[in-house]
Amino acid sequence: MTLTLHRGDITTDTEVDALVTAANSGLRGGGGVDGAIHRAAGPALLAECRRIGGCAVGDAVITGAGDLPVRHVIHTVGPVWSGGGHGEPALLASAHRRTVEVAAAHGCARIALPAISCGVYGYPVEQAAAIAVASTREAMVAHPEVVEARFWLFDERTYAAFSAVL
Ligand code: APR
Repeated sequence: MTLTLHRGDITTDTEVDALVTAANSGLRGGGGVDGAIHRAAGPALLAECRRIGGCAVGDAVITGAGDLPVRHVIHTVGPVWSGGGHGEPALLASAHRRTVEVAAAHGCARIALPAISCGVYGYPVEQAAAIAVASTREAMVAHPEVVEARFWLFDERTYAAFSAVL
């Protein structure tokens, strides 16, 4: 099992089976990493999301990848940070666990993940990094067919937080 850290834009990773996006529960696309992935994938991705309809917080769904040079996009919905007393840690862990489970179920051995909930959703980055790494690793132990998880961190502070944990 390999977990690695990368600095920059997740859409540049062409060596994985699936890119993971930090979606909203309506799967409607948005800004941040979801916007970047939808822009790179083209309108086919949003059309597929519309057919699925939605995704609960802490869950994940899989689609094709439109124009992206990978096979799949896994859309997971992290929690909005509301102070930490509203189940946020369990929901963030669940988003990572479900992402790995969905990857395993669709034969994705290598996945690329962003810092889920760490942008618009406001999750404190140091706390999110610890949960992201621990829950992804735990799910990969349970699903050894997923051999590699690459975390793509967009800014220096997020990279440093994940680096401290890993
Ligand atoms: N590659 C990698 N990481 C990126 C990229 C990119 N191209 N663009 C942004 N990021 C980073 C952000 O800097 C942040 O650290 O991804 C992390 C997650 O931020 P958001 O994309 O805002 O995701 P999140 O906080 O989970 O909020 C989800 O934002 O755009 C909407 O549809 C999305 O409503 C949903 C919400």
